[in-house]
Amino acid sequence: MSPGPAILFRMVRASNIAKGTLVQGDCLDVMRTLEPASIDLIYVDPPFFTGKEQRGRDAVSFNDSWPGGLRDYLGWLVPRIEAMRALLKPSGSIYVHLDWHAVHYVKVEMDRIFGYNHFLNEIVWLYGLGGSSARYWPRKHDTILWYARERGQHFFEAARVPATSQRMKGRTKKAPDYWDIPALNNMARERLGYPTQKPEALLERIVTSSAPDDGLVADFFCGAGTTLAVAARTNRRWFGCDESAEAVEITRNRLKALG
Ligand SMILES: C[S@@+](CC[C@H](N)C(=O)[O-])C[C@H]1O[C@@H](n2cnc3c(N)ncnc32)[C@H](O)[C@@H]1O
Repeated sequence: MSPGPAILFRMVRASNIAKGTLVQGDCLDVMRTLEPASIDLIYVDPPFFTGKEQRGRDAVSFNDSWPGGLRDYLGWLVPRIEAMRALLKPSGSIYVHLDWHAVHYVKVEMDRIFGYNHFLNEIVWLYGLGGSSARYWPRKHDTILWYARERGQHFFEAARVPATSQRMKGRTKKAPDYWDIPALNNMARERLGYPTQKPEALLERIVTSSAPDDGLVADFFCGAGTTLAVAARTNRRWFGCDESAEAVEITRNRLKALG
């Protein structure tokens, strides 16, 4: 019998209340151990159905190839998203980060899981970096689907960005649903060598707008721990897991460094 997911790191605050917990394991097993309706915000950046092995600077990798094609991928992802829904508080919400490979199919599944009316936004992340093709328009964005557990009850404090029109010059406006935030380049100080690591600026917008102060933020495919580091830095509690030992090790060191 499997020993079950192992808690690898717990950050504790002065009052002895857990500020954060990091677990290694398949997120489906890990989620079965958690209390239903207890999480304020879930962000996940699962494998995208790229058909590739993802490799980083230090050969840390995860497999994103699906011999059975899209049916295989959705058969794997959908039960995990269903389990995430059950963990959200009535005021909670979930961001699922994908790209053109599978996002349209996942949108249909999420409409079924959450209800079409609980869909809030399709956020387009314009990341800038990457190559281009002579045969089609350069692919320069990812898509992040945002759903509420209960639309209307969900927590939201819109982020503000500098206004660009002449009329609003010098003022701010609510951030729209397309976010121009540079991806991490090879020289970025934040970079930890983990493939597909996302920038903290992207997660900061999500975490600070969609989780209350001291709220619980979870990332069940945490990779290098970007979501958890941002949650810790912005005074939210966090829960993270990843099935890769290397990812968990990188995340543990990143969180330890935050103190
Ligand atoms: C795209 S990466 C996440 C990157 C992360 N957002 C960051 O900023 O570093 C996806 C992660 O999902 C993990 N993963 C894949 N299948 C998993 C599963 N069943 N349970 C938990 N983690 C899984 C991989 O090990 C990988 O670290």
